[in-house]
Amino acid sequence: MKKTYYITTPIYYPSGHMHIGHTYTTVAADTMARFKKLTGYDTYFLTGTDEHGQKIERSAQEAGKDPQTYVDEIVAETKVLWQQMGIEYDDFIRTTDERHVKAAQKIFRKLYDNGDIYKGFYEGQYCTFCESYWTNTQLKEGKCCPDCSRPTELVKEEGYFFRMSKYQDWLIEYIEKNPEFIQPTSRANEMLQNFLRPGLQDLSVSRTSFDWGVPVDFDPDHVIYVWIDALSNYITALGFTSENDGLMQRYWPANVHLVGKEIVRFHTIYWPIMLHALGLPLPKQVFAHGWLLFGNDKMSKSKGNVVYPQPIIERYGADTLRYYLMREMPFGADGNYTNEALINRINSDLANDLGNLLSRTNAMILKYFNGIIPPMGKVCGEDQTLIDQVLNLPQKVEEEMDALQFSRALSEIWKVVGEANRYIDITRPWVLGKDESRKDRLGTVLYTLGETLRFISVLLSPFMPSTPERIYEQIGVTDAKVKTWESLERFGALTHGVMIERKEPLFPRLDVEKELLALAENTQEEEIADANQAPEQQSIKPTITIDDFDKLDLRTAKVLDCKAVPKSDKLLKFTLSLGNETRTVLSGIAEHYNPKDLIGKTVIMIANLAPRKIRGIQSEGMILSASSADDSIIKLLSIDDQLPHGSIIS
Ligand code: ME8
Ligand code: MG
Repeated sequence: MKKTYYITTPIYYPSGHMHIGHTYTTVAADTMARFKKLTGYDTYFLTGTDEHGQKIERSAQEAGKDPQTYVDEIVAETKVLWQQMGIEYDDFIRTTDERHVKAAQKIFRKLYDNGDIYKGFYEGQYCTFCESYWTNTQLKEGKCCPDCSRPTELVKEEGYFFRMSKYQDWLIEYIEKNPEFIQPTSRANEMLQNFLRPGLQDLSVSRTSFDWGVPVDFDPDHVIYVWIDALSNYITALGFTSENDGLMQRYWPANVHLVGKEIVRFHTIYWPIMLHALGLPLPKQVFAHGWLLFGNDKMSKSKGNVVYPQPIIERYGADTLRYYLMREMPFGADGNYTNEALINRINSDLANDLGNLLSRTNAMILKYFNGIIPPMGKVCGEDQTLIDQVLNLPQKVEEEMDALQFSRALSEIWKVVGEANRYIDITRPWVLGKDESRKDRLGTVLYTLGETLRFISVLLSPFMPSTPERIYEQIGVTDAKVKTWESLERFGALTHGVMIERKEPLFPRLDVEKELLALAENTQEEEIADANQAPEQQSIKPTITIDDFDKLDLRTAKVLDCKAVPKSDKLLKFTLSLGNETRTVLSGIAEHYNPKDLIGKTVIMIANLAPRKIRGIQSEGMILSASSADDSIIKLLSIDDQLPHGSIIS
């Protein structure tokens, strides 16, 4: 029997489009699943969507849709995205699936029957946005939510509670005895120190305040609160509680749940306790990776500072984005996303290092051997040095992959790419090519390069699923048997005598300036939002003169019309009267205002700001607003309506 490997991503909220943060985790899971398949495991890869709760209900309402239609649309779009990204999941679970709803109800009932869940009252400060209760010590100043900084409200409701406290000592011991369980280790210490050792409170696990959820079947005024509903996906997808639980037998416990660090608490405290209470073994590992930041802030749907993958895929292909995501930051650490870093990676690692190695090898086989792969002759010292590194590479990659160190695995592969390029410089095939008597030696050098590229391609296949085939074409690999992990046991499996052709460069070198401009469209929405943002450090900017100020033409303007910009969560489109002219101005405040409420107001605008096109709409100025340091509160500046529109502000 094959060894099994079960890997999961979080199930994402379909409350907006998936961005490259979600893409990051999904690509990591896919890469790992492909790697395990390559190395002979019976692999199962689960992803999906977490579709219940107030946030979704509200997003649907705002979009004027019923929740099911709303989530169906986002899920359809998400599946297209995953397909574009080359994601090969085995199952996509939706918490609105009948199979999940039934199973979640049975799980809830089972926990209730066992006495782990009981009915009581809950009163506390509640953040509707984050769907979380917070204790007084957790709250920020002004009873604001510690996560999103929005004001919380006092809520009292009848509800069901999970007796977490009962399992606290067991869990502490478990975590201490199983250092592999929570990775990176720093997260385990955090959980112990911040939550477990101070003592767990019983967890509220039902709600009566909204309907869009799985009803508690024996008390249908209550819906199962998000975390029991959501976390159980990892087993309901395998058929837990159903007759048909073969997958559960085969794959549980999971080898690893990949999660972003903000949900590690749910996965390493609530989830293990739930599983233990159900009599199930715990996943072998929960790995908390870091955040992709944008402008040093976590990219998130609720903040709206996101980068979407589609324009990047369209311009450079999915493999390139996959490479960048897995290479740029160590798995576990945060990293800033910038278009510039993406383009630089493509140019240096893909176009230069790998692309050149391939095109040089391919071109020399064409030139010196009429495109026919030469046989390998006698091996010299300089060949052996490279061959040894190539032969050691699979094991190094496997070690890094087993530690989920994608970036380090790639860096090992690129070390060999670098060695192979150096090998060309040392062996100087162009000199050998001038001397007919050294043809065999030249053949050995070029064969060694081709075979090295074959190793590299096989090892890259989990990361960049469509690139290897493009390399194989250029080094004459056609036989599936030499694309396998097993074929890497021996140096020399590349078949000689095969005819190859010249192909397009693997990754054309990009013009940085030009690409930055092209990609800027993808992030303009974020830039306009920045115009409304107070700087993180609210220090006063350097002194200006009155002449500097005089350059600004500030005017009062009457809002004649205000509408949401289609397909944008942030932008509002204003039609403004300046008295003798009307202007169209975009402003990134859609999350803070209902457009209808703004019609008729008199706002303040910069009337002489250079116009710019955002989302295809020309914005002719900027409306002033003030914001709190963390942007949770943004207020448009407005004055009462006694002046003529277009009055000068000085
Ligand atoms: O939390 N950087 O869903 P979600 C890196 N439904 N990863 C990011 C990211 C970023 N900026 N933004 C999102 C939920 N992610 C719950 C999960 S699981 C039982 C329920 C990734 O839509 C990362 O994996 O907020 C993060 O944990 C997840 O998306 C959160 O997705
Ligand atoms: Mg989130």
